[in-house]
Amino acid sequence: DWTMSAYKDQAIEAIRAQVGDAKVICGLSGGVDSSVAAVLIHEAIGDQLTCVFVDTGMMRMGEAEEVVTLFRDHYNIPLIHADEADLFIDALEGESDPETKRKTIGRLFIEVFEKHAKSVGGAKFLAQGTLYPDVIESVSFSGGPSVTIKSHHNVGGLPERMDMKLVEPLRELFKDEVRALGRELGLPESFVGRHPFPGPGLAIRCPGGITREKLDILRKADAVYLDQIRKHGLYDEIWQAFAVLLPVRTVGVMGDGRTYEYVCALRAVTSVDGMTADFYPFSSEFLGETAGRIINEVNGINRVVYDYTSKPPGTIEWE
Ligand code: XMP
Repeated sequence: DWTMSAYKDQAIEAIRAQVGDAKVICGLSGGVDSSVAAVLIHEAIGDQLTCVFVDTGMMRMGEAEEVVTLFRDHYNIPLIHADEADLFIDALEGESDPETKRKTIGRLFIEVFEKHAKSVGGAKFLAQGTLYPDVIESVSFSGGPSVTIKSHHNVGGLPERMDMKLVEPLRELFKDEVRALGRELGLPESFVGRHPFPGPGLAIRCPGGITREKLDILRKADAVYLDQIRKHGLYDEIWQAFAVLLPVRTVGVMGDGRTYEYVCALRAVTSVDGMTADFYPFSSEFLGETAGRIINEVNGINRVVYDYTSKPPGTIEWE
């Protein structure tokens, strides 16, 4: 559509004017926003851009492969695949306060980005896929969204010592506009239509302390849930769907034995911009079948519950 195409040209000019001939690194999270930001910036400044995909160990099943394939093989955009799972998980182990989790993750992202700003020969700019609702929500909630680490983390005083300046070409856009821009840039529909995924990843879907074991259980349950949603043709009707692993074990029976395992909560919402949301009204058949599959296919979970909370009063994420 012509409006988005004009917006794209303008945005490209603005990026060129901001960065000149400096190098830029862009944090990719696997989500729509950072992907669109990266492709837009690449159109503007070509190989002055290097993308950095930080594998925090808290990504969903198959995420790393999908991102690396899209950017390296399809777009041919220089990409560093930083495997930092140990760094992130070790730092978070035993931490259960949601705000501290986000701050720790934000700080580590900055450390990793700064390391790679050096490794590409001195990047002066860090690009992020911050959207308009992120800007608004970070003003109203201290724990607002951050794709990778959004500017409010800086405003909030965290990485004060960050040397790079931010490039945030999507700051004025809502999600549906970012998707339109992604289509304009030729991103595959399978990527443009992806559900949002938060920068802190599975860390904020594992209330309480994080362990590798819990993350593995959660990743498997989440994959089964999303598989069910796709199989039933519901993916595109839903804004965001994910599993949450509760820090609670309950008793169950399996065969002749008693089990004592984790509870998994399922969340799905419809929304236009993420600022308000309604719980998704799955059929009880769908929920029953999905609960059965998760309990059968994922070791460590023996009970599944569904979250019927809209936003407000709930947030979309549990932390
Ligand atoms: P909430 O939970 O605040 O989420 O209703 C609204 C939207 O923002 C996403 N979200 C985040 N994204 N870093 C991010 O990149 C975060 O810390 C964060 N917290 C929430 C959430 O997934 C939803 O799409």
